[in-house]
Amino acid sequence: MFAPATIEARSKPELYRELALQLRGLVEDERDPVANMANASALLWGALPDLNWAGFYVLRSVGELVVGPFQGKPACTRIPVGRGVCGTAVAEARSIVVEDVHSFPGHIACDAASRSELVVPVRAEGRIVGVIDLDSPVPARFDAEDRDGIERIAAILGDACDWAPPAR
Ligand code: SME
Repeated sequence: MFAPATIEARSKPELYRELALQLRGLVEDERDPVANMANASALLWGALPDLNWAGFYVLRSVGELVVGPFQGKPACTRIPVGRGVCGTAVAEARSIVVEDVHSFPGHIACDAASRSELVVPVRAEGRIVGVIDLDSPVPARFDAEDRDGIERIAAILGDACDWAPPAR
């Protein structure tokens, strides 16, 4: 059984270093993407304060994201690439920190409580396979340290799983 190490981080970079270590431990003997995304979303949800959603959208077919394992309220099932924060992160192949979701054109409001958001692409062998999406009810909850930390988490997951190629 997974016993989460107590997180005693004094700074965000330290917190993300500890989370990365814990994630490596969780995924080291498993290559199934659903299993690893499920455990990763539970890990992030349990360790990061002030979240109302933490999970994944997966590029299951070309041009469209489908919701993957997550913690939080039920969310939009499918997001076209190029739409919302998640779809824009895939289209532009970059992480996006949104301080105020109301000022992001095309933001998709799955939960009216969300005020800020962080979306980070997950890559496997250079190809984007999905995104990590974190939502917060607190405005400007995420900064560059969160982005860097979640990019590290995304890199671990990208390498740790056997990702199916997207359907045409
Ligand atoms: N807000 C996201 C949609 C996903 S939910 O927040 C879980 C977006 O604009 O892409």
